[in-house]
Amino acid sequence: MKPLKKAVLPVAGLGTRFLPTTKALAKEMLPVVDKPLIQYAVEEARAAGIEQFCFITGRGKTAIVEHFDVAYELERTLEERGKHDVLASLRSQALPPGSINTVRQQVPMGLGHAIWCARAFIGEDPFAILLPDDLMLCETPCTQQLAEAYYETGGNVVAIEEVPMERVKNYGVLDIAEDKGKLVSVKGLVEKPPVEYAPSNLTVIGRYVLMPQVIEYLARMERGAGGEVQLTDAMAKLIPHQPFHGVRYEGRRFDCGDKAGYLEAQIAFALKRADMAPAVREFLPKYR
Ligand code: G1P
Repeated sequence: MKPLKKAVLPVAGLGTRFLPTTKALAKEMLPVVDKPLIQYAVEEARAAGIEQFCFITGRGKTAIVEHFDVAYELERTLEERGKHDVLASLRSQALPPGSINTVRQQVPMGLGHAIWCARAFIGEDPFAILLPDDLMLCETPCTQQLAEAYYETGGNVVAIEEVPMERVKNYGVLDIAEDKGKLVSVKGLVEKPPVEYAPSNLTVIGRYVLMPQVIEYLARMERGAGGEVQLTDAMAKLIPHQPFHGVRYEGRRFDCGDKAGYLEAQIAFALKRADMAPAVREFLPKYR
């Protein structure tokens, strides 16, 4: 079994739900407390042993790549001002040279198309996908939980959660072959089905470990839900040929592509921080 060392992070989305902020700012640079969404995703991937990152970018997304570069002037200024803690924290977050790759998607043809754009980066290797809009608060980082499942079962694994039936239309939905508790073997997948056609209420969240063969199905450029090339449809085609499992991850997901979800993430993450929690606990009751 090949080790999991690569991750693909699609960041080309326009972020229309956060206009006007996202007119000139990549939505992945929106902060939760004091860290941009993209950094949470990268740190989660690193904690799972990922060494190579590929950002699928588009126009107006250069800040994301800049963010992971060394900022010499800033570092010197911090040093001169004696801000050693901040400097040490910045340096500890730096990625090794040569670990960031980017490709441009150029046309908004859907998540499946975005992943296909990373085909040269993926090559013959298994790879993780992290959708930075889905912010995860987990004891064991979510991608780590998927990596552990991958090393156990081989093949494809996706993080899953149960949602109320009326919300399945927003997600990729699992058709279950066997429910083993934490692990679920999958016999089918449907992207954003109307509730009456949904095979279950187990949905895929934005964390995947996939085999490189998914690219062959994406390359067909078949349009699915919303007229887009859907990752879910290509994954479904892998199922007859390779193991495919859902993992009931342990932790919480915040949909930061949604304004209320984003706001809730601020509170949840602030409450986890020793420097923030007391102040938040003090003001929060005022808003009941
Ligand atoms: C994407 C996927 C969907 C998945 C969801 C998780 O949808 O297409 O299968 O359930 O992410 O966040 P999107 O939210 O981009 O519409």
